[in-house]
Amino acid sequence: MDDRDLFERITRAVQPALAQGRVARYIPALAAVDPHRFGLAIADTDSRTPRGTGDWQVPFSIQSLSKVFTLALVLAADGEALWSRVGKEPSGAAFNSLAQLEREQGIPRNPFVNAGALVVTDRLLTLTGDARGTLRDFLRAESGNPRIDFDAEVAWSESRHGHRNAALAHLLADHGRLDNPVPDVLDHYFWQCSLAMNCRDLALAAGFLARHGVRADSTRLLTRSEAKRVNAVMLIGGTYDAAGEFAHRVGLPAKSGVGGGIIAVIPGRCTLCTWGPALDDHGNSIAGITALDTLTTVTGWSIF
Ligand code: DON
Repeated sequence: MDDRDLFERITRAVQPALAQGRVARYIPALAAVDPHRFGLAIADTDSRTPRGTGDWQVPFSIQSLSKVFTLALVLAADGEALWSRVGKEPSGAAFNSLAQLEREQGIPRNPFVNAGALVVTDRLLTLTGDARGTLRDFLRAESGNPRIDFDAEVAWSESRHGHRNAALAHLLADHGRLDNPVPDVLDHYFWQCSLAMNCRDLALAAGFLARHGVRADSTRLLTRSEAKRVNAVMLIGGTYDAAGEFAHRVGLPAKSGVGGGIIAVIPGRCTLCTWGPALDDHGNSIAGITALDTLTTVTGWSIF
């Protein structure tokens, strides 16, 4: 099947999904996004020219997609030490659960629930002195787009309304799990989530996960094992307490964000990025899941 047929088939499949779900409202700046948007990009491992359809070149808020990249940057700088501070198990709980963190003595289930991502950002801040800037520069380099930047309105909006993340950060600090002051960790976390990117640039930026750890410029970011571990944790936790359902339907490592983006990886072949702002109850894009489900079903692409 050629790209045109594939894109047509996917676009048809997502139409009913665009009428379902709700855009994220707990960050007020995200509530204004048009829920009928849809984009998809595919970046092959051996090409700098992704292909895509729909709104694939329209920037959106990357939110939790940032967590994949901060995790990779910490593993690259610090190796396996992180795994003593963050688990690698499915959460089975909402991405912003306080109860789970309290029950488990401040060790987050995995690096993709918000508590885990705060620990990763804390470590990146210690290692670099500028977690959000390091992330932005990495994304610019991997995508080849020097215009990628933060959205100050989204960052301030989340910072003003981010009571639950503040509570998680204070709980982590109370358990002695953060090295930096809570306000600094939260600040870097909110700004990293506010980065605005499109499907094209995100598919390119995640390319190292499909190239077993090798960056766009052919240098190595992660060892083969580390790249495998990031993909494995995406599979078990990238879509939170719906990771089982997602694996069942799509069968690929993936990471979602409440801006409506999903990044998915087919190691050795390509990276995919979808965008559809309306979310299900777990915080995952309904159109994105439908698109990836259709894509893997139609093409037979799978890691299994
Ligand atoms: O911390 C938050 O709540 C947001 N900045 C990111 C959460 C998110 O994207 C969850 N993903 N579906």
